[in-house]
Amino acid sequence: MGRLDVRVRTDLGSTVSYLSREDKPQEKVTVTELSLSGAMVTGLSTQLSELFAIRLPLPGLGDVELLAKFVRRGKTGSAIRLFYSEQAAMQALWEHIRGKLPRTDNCPYCGHPDDSREGSCDKCNLYLDFSKKNYLERHIENTFAQRLNIRLSRLNLEHIQKIIDFVDSKLLKIQHRSPDREFVGASREMLSVFSMIRKVAPTEMSVLLLGESGTGKELTAKALHSLSTRKDGPFVAVNCAAIPESLLESELFGYSKGAFTGADTSRKGKFEYADGGTLFLDEIGDLPQSLQAKLLRFLEDRLVQPVGSSVSKKIDVRIVAATNCDLHRSVSEGRFRTDLFYRLNSFTIKLPPLRERGEDKVRLAKYFLARFCEAENRPVGFSADALEAIEGYSWPGNVRELENKVRRGFLMASGKDIGAACMELDQVAPSPAAPVDCGYRSAPSQKEYVVKVLEDNDYVIAKAARQLNISRPSMYALMRKHGIQGKRAS
Ligand SMILES: Nc1ncnc2c1ncn2[C@@H]1O[C@H](COP(=O)(O)OP(=O)(O)OP(=O)(O)O)[C@@H](O)[C@H]1O
Ligand SMILES: [Mg+2]
Repeated sequence: MGRLDVRVRTDLGSTVSYLSREDKPQEKVTVTELSLSGAMVTGLSTQLSELFAIRLPLPGLGDVELLAKFVRRGKTGSAIRLFYSEQAAMQALWEHIRGKLPRTDNCPYCGHPDDSREGSCDKCNLYLDFSKKNYLERHIENTFAQRLNIRLSRLNLEHIQKIIDFVDSKLLKIQHRSPDREFVGASREMLSVFSMIRKVAPTEMSVLLLGESGTGKELTAKALHSLSTRKDGPFVAVNCAAIPESLLESELFGYSKGAFTGADTSRKGKFEYADGGTLFLDEIGDLPQSLQAKLLRFLEDRLVQPVGSSVSKKIDVRIVAATNCDLHRSVSEGRFRTDLFYRLNSFTIKLPPLRERGEDKVRLAKYFLARFCEAENRPVGFSADALEAIEGYSWPGNVRELENKVRRGFLMASGKDIGAACMELDQVAPSPAAPVDCGYRSAPSQKEYVVKVLEDNDYVIAKAARQLNISRPSMYALMRKHGIQGKRAS
């Protein structure tokens, strides 16, 4: 990645005033290089972190006075950072910089050759139409996410949370919106989730999603991708629990020709497929130890080494991971690496269970019903007892279960109303949340454990999946992984 601001050579005899010193001394300096965010000057005496004013005489544009701070001493002078209190000063500085742009065909941000200076650079994607009147405005808008990212990388999590709260409550005074129309929720719990999604999406931070099965972790991962600067890149999802351990490494990292018997050609892994986009590692708690080390290495140096290859490739991927298990417990039981946990846990979003989302239960039910009605052009509503049952039920399978029950109700309803019975909610006493059974992950024989759960549930896949707190597709994947037949026990 190149610069976010063009730097040009210049020669401006300027005046520095030390505002915080009692006698307000002044000194003459020369600005030799200039960008919108900083400058290189000779003759600056301070090396302290003090604010001073610098007056720049811009030929043909008048004098501009800005606040500045010493950053570091370099070979050719002192680097300083510039701060703006008014747009007009920035515009004047930009016009001076524009007049000094070198007459080459290279992109002045990243150096990529042969750019026509119309539209955007093919490589760094920054806007290059310098002659446009609103160039500066557009450039600042385009680079806002990267600038924010640079600032955020200098802050710890506590500071980031404070900034998020401040922006929301004081600056925007917003009613938090859902990140997209298909992500439904207005309960306090979900508004807080949406707020976090909107704020963290444009950054490059890895995000860890926690929540019971069916709470919307994958939906959240997709929202993070579509609200990020990577939205035009690929979104690649991998379910770490569904792929046998022996295949997972090559699935993720790819392999080179001859790496193992049957590897007739080289193959790209999911990391490479996700290059330039987002890699969603679902059920991260199931990542085997050897691959945990490899993922940690990737998060540190962004290099991927295909199986059987001695060469590593640089890959530009943002990681979003998810699990419905208690990763803290996995860490304390030694099944999940502490260092990887802290790396992934740098920004965590907890999806609340549906039973804790108050009025969202009915809101979501109505949303799903409206979709089914529209698809089949058949208007149907909920009866009063159905709405009451929806509110009272504990929804151990969360939003996925609600969607399935509404679908069932829609299909079963004969008249204009769906009753509680159509959704099989009439005899169900509100029950406590399903216990989270993650034991299968650490059982000495995962296959035996899964078979036992299936037997206990009379091979009813939905019930077994619920006991293990995984989705039905994950249950089928787990059975495929161990070659377990899906038929009923006789
Ligand atoms: N807030 C929501 N608004 C609309 N649809 C939702 C919402 N949350 C979840 N869904 C829908 O519910 C289903 C389950 O969501 P999703 O697959 O994202 O859950 P999950 O947490 O990844 O589940 P699992 O842990 O079982 O993989 C999907 O069809 C999804 O579109
Ligand atoms: Mg999922």
